[in-house]
Amino acid sequence: MSLEDGLEAQRQRAYAQRSPQERKVRAAAVTAVANAQTAERALCEGEPIPRFQLPSIEGGLVDAGLLLERGPLLISFYRGGWCPYCNIELRALQARLPEIEALGASLVAISPELPDRTLMTVESNALTFPVLFDKGNEVARQFRLTHQIDPQVVRYQLGNGNDVATYNGMDTAEVPLPATYVVDAGGVVRYAFVDADYTRRADPDVVIRVLHDLAAGRTAPPDARPTPASGTGAGTVAMSSEQITAKVLAAVSRAKDPRVGQILSAVIRHAHDLAREVRLQPRELLAAADFLQRCGDISDEARHEFILLSDVLGLTMVVDTEAAGVADGALETSVLGPFYRADAPWEPTGANISRGAGDGEPARIHGRVLDTSGTPVSGAVLDVWGTNGRGLYENVDPSQPDYNLRGRFRSAADGSYDLWTVKPVSYPIPDDGPVGDLLAVTGRHNMRPAHFHVIASADGYRTIVTELYTDDDPYLGSDAVFGVKPSLVVHYNRIDNPEALQAAGRSEPYWDLEHDLILTPGQASSTGFSAGRRRAV
Ligand code: BEZ
Ligand code: FE
Repeated sequence: MSLEDGLEAQRQRAYAQRSPQERKVRAAAVTAVANAQTAERALCEGEPIPRFQLPSIEGGLVDAGLLLERGPLLISFYRGGWCPYCNIELRALQARLPEIEALGASLVAISPELPDRTLMTVESNALTFPVLFDKGNEVARQFRLTHQIDPQVVRYQLGNGNDVATYNGMDTAEVPLPATYVVDAGGVVRYAFVDADYTRRADPDVVIRVLHDLAAGRTAPPDARPTPASGTGAGTVAMSSEQITAKVLAAVSRAKDPRVGQILSAVIRHAHDLAREVRLQPRELLAAADFLQRCGDISDEARHEFILLSDVLGLTMVVDTEAAGVADGALETSVLGPFYRADAPWEPTGANISRGAGDGEPARIHGRVLDTSGTPVSGAVLDVWGTNGRGLYENVDPSQPDYNLRGRFRSAADGSYDLWTVKPVSYPIPDDGPVGDLLAVTGRHNMRPAHFHVIASADGYRTIVTELYTDDDPYLGSDAVFGVKPSLVVHYNRIDNPEALQAAGRSEPYWDLEHDLILTPGQASSTGFSAGRRRAV
């Protein structure tokens, strides 16, 4: 098993063991470390290493200067024996030790853990290379690698019985970023791998390649490397993809808007890691570019292929759910979809938004808008829309009246709302473009279960973009865009007895949905998107 396979298996184990809250806290902590740019500021290629002497667990001091007299030095900074990724990496290095030594290099590992803890790491992983105790992270600090583990993460670690500060004999949980350095015999860093994400480690194959190059005499200080135009590159150490990632991250690190910088650097880190993980081939990158181009080509004011793409990949639902922060028991969010049109006509309570002939089976939707304590919310705005009985929204079906099956309502003083429309039906999302191709190659259908769209908003409450799903729909369990949440599944009663019809002033049977909408206190927000309407040709 490669080191990356071992790390990935550990990532998956950790993910499965953790609650959504813990995953969130840990992901935010990694983002914070990335934003602090510790990895970018760490000692890097071309710099001389600080000369250090550290106690080895076997006894005696290990002197970096003496090791360098024998040849190149491979240094692995690890966080501690409590970190599963560190153990996986140390074992991977142990497995490659014969190759490292055959290339004339020495290997040492360094952590701030007290000697008794370090001994446990050495023994449990059967390590035969020197493992050094860096008291108080003094050497790691000189390599500019230290950072404090996020206090919320520390709480989770303590819950697992891991007291990092005590393990290190320190007051705080300060650790080095895990880092790998190849240092040439002159004491200059020839390869550095430092990543804000502690689950990422240097690829031993890359490290060994650098050692090979050093052994073959293919070295030059980075500032003396020929530029691409000046020669073949012979005589240089090949640049690793991780070095390219570090350069790109540094290039975007001065974004004027810090939020833009944060998002862009995360996109770069994840995209580069993705390329490494799946060994993305150049022709596959071009195929992805072509796919995105086709998404653009097919889009127009009424067709939003990129939104559709985000929807079928489940990204929309992840973003909405993370951002929503709804209270327990309150109305949950679902996808907005690409068919929302802003500025639907205002309608009085009880109005019918079915304005077309033969729109579908009539349905009454009513209930109350309440807060989480059950108090009515008056004046809440319900911006609603749905398809006709053939599964078409008016903006892509020029045969329907403008704004058919769309409307805006206000809840009354007692929180009540009441409207007429048609009973939702399941319908296919567009599959004649690149998103349809993507569904096809993964053997997925393109159906959405029957649903009715609502954007509920009121002053002092979070704006909730959502859908109410009809409970008897065959696609409830396999929505093409993953929008269904159990609390959003509702039941329509068929009303066909004469007294009830008379009371409702109807002559034909209809469907009745009574459903209260519970709002979460917070700030209202705007939807910020509106589709256009396709014209008849
Ligand atoms: C919709 O419900 O309108 C919808 C949502 C996501 C993709 C396509 C359609
Ligand atoms: Fe829809």
